[in-house]
Amino acid sequence: MSRKTLSLMAVLMLMAMLVAACPAADTGAPVVQDGAAGEAADPAADADTELTAMLWATARPGDEEAVAYCNEQTGINVEVVSGPESATDRLALYLQFFGAGSGDIDVMQIDVIWPGILAEHLIDLTPYVDNLEDHFPAIVQNNTVDGSLVGIPWFTDAGLLYYRADLLEKYGYDGPPSTWSQLTEMAGAIQEGERGEGLSDFWGFVWQGNAYEGLTCDALEWQYSFGGGQIVEPDGTISINNPNAIAAFELAASWVGNISPSGVTTYQEEEARNVWQTGNAAFMRNWPYAYSLGQGEDSAIAGNFDVTVLPAGDIEGGQGAATLGGWQMAVSAYSENQDAAGRWAACMASDPEAQKIRATIGSSLPTIQSLYEDADILEARPFFGSLFDVFTNAVARPSTVTGDQYNEVSTIYFTEVHRVLTGEQTAEEAVQQIESQLQDLLQ
Ligand code: GLC
Repeated sequence: MSRKTLSLMAVLMLMAMLVAACPAADTGAPVVQDGAAGEAADPAADADTELTAMLWATARPGDEEAVAYCNEQTGINVEVVSGPESATDRLALYLQFFGAGSGDIDVMQIDVIWPGILAEHLIDLTPYVDNLEDHFPAIVQNNTVDGSLVGIPWFTDAGLLYYRADLLEKYGYDGPPSTWSQLTEMAGAIQEGERGEGLSDFWGFVWQGNAYEGLTCDALEWQYSFGGGQIVEPDGTISINNPNAIAAFELAASWVGNISPSGVTTYQEEEARNVWQTGNAAFMRNWPYAYSLGQGEDSAIAGNFDVTVLPAGDIEGGQGAATLGGWQMAVSAYSENQDAAGRWAACMASDPEAQKIRATIGSSLPTIQSLYEDADILEARPFFGSLFDVFTNAVARPSTVTGDQYNEVSTIYFTEVHRVLTGEQTAEEAVQQIESQLQDLLQ
């Protein structure tokens, strides 16, 4: 497999060129819609089939191995191209591709919040998966739109608290914080101590504060842990304007420039991970993928950190909340090789071996339930077992109830929360703003 690293710009240029060249840009074999479930692939039949899959901006550990495995298993030669790192930018790019009817990307990873937005542009993958019942049923249901399986669960995700076990010990703490106010206090004390020893770039807590989908995830965790609801409840009630959400956002805003760098309001996952992994933060909020990278060769903190559930809100009965994330393998309805693409996507997402590769080399959470009892996986990633309840009780963003309007809902939410973090408005103003904009949008 060769991996092309294309910037967003290059992808857009490529897309424009290929769209212009249409319909002459016929790159593949004719479409054969015969993908019966469970049929063994005939590698010889696909030896000449070349497909393009759009995956991460930067390959995550295990991706290359999983792609090589599925290329071999299926006999289909898939070339991986990079998509934008930000989920918000990635959705915009996919919508551009689909809007142009472009089949240049055959297979793509889609976010757990997108089935309702993208369903009309994706094929039904039901015929390609013979072990659907092995996946978490809630994710299968999430990915099924009007009876069509628009994405095969690839991995699930949940927000976690990463902490420096060595520093906790150094500063005399018994364990990680269980409430946000404890985290605030501990992060401040460790930051002060480390700076006092000359680490002038050291910060207490790094997270995702940029105005994009990732902030929706972080802010929902603060809010929900404070008993502040889910923005729009599953029954459609717009619940955001409440004192608990206000308290949560006020607390988060108080971190900026104190225990978190002012620049955290421009951070996505990778910016936070870079500060963390170079040894310059005591705590980080991030997804499980950062675990294997943090234990890797390039990391300054390998062996010195652990992960746990995010802190509880400072209210009676407050509980830590993890936002539910995760990605699915999908096939474009504009692909000229839908059948081959469907078979390859099924290998990547539903072959237990492929999920196992990405769980043990990387640290992606499987969606095939039995893999949480796999001895090799549990040995490589012990937190998959110890935090299993966190993963299975993660809080969903309101993407099912708001359907194809979810992206507008999230954009309103992260834009207004971001303005609290940057000091442009109060938390109270933000929840009023979000409420009234959501009322206009949804009612
Ligand atoms: C992770 C999650 C995804 C979420 C994104 C936000 O990739 O898996 O669901 O939307 O982060 O940045």
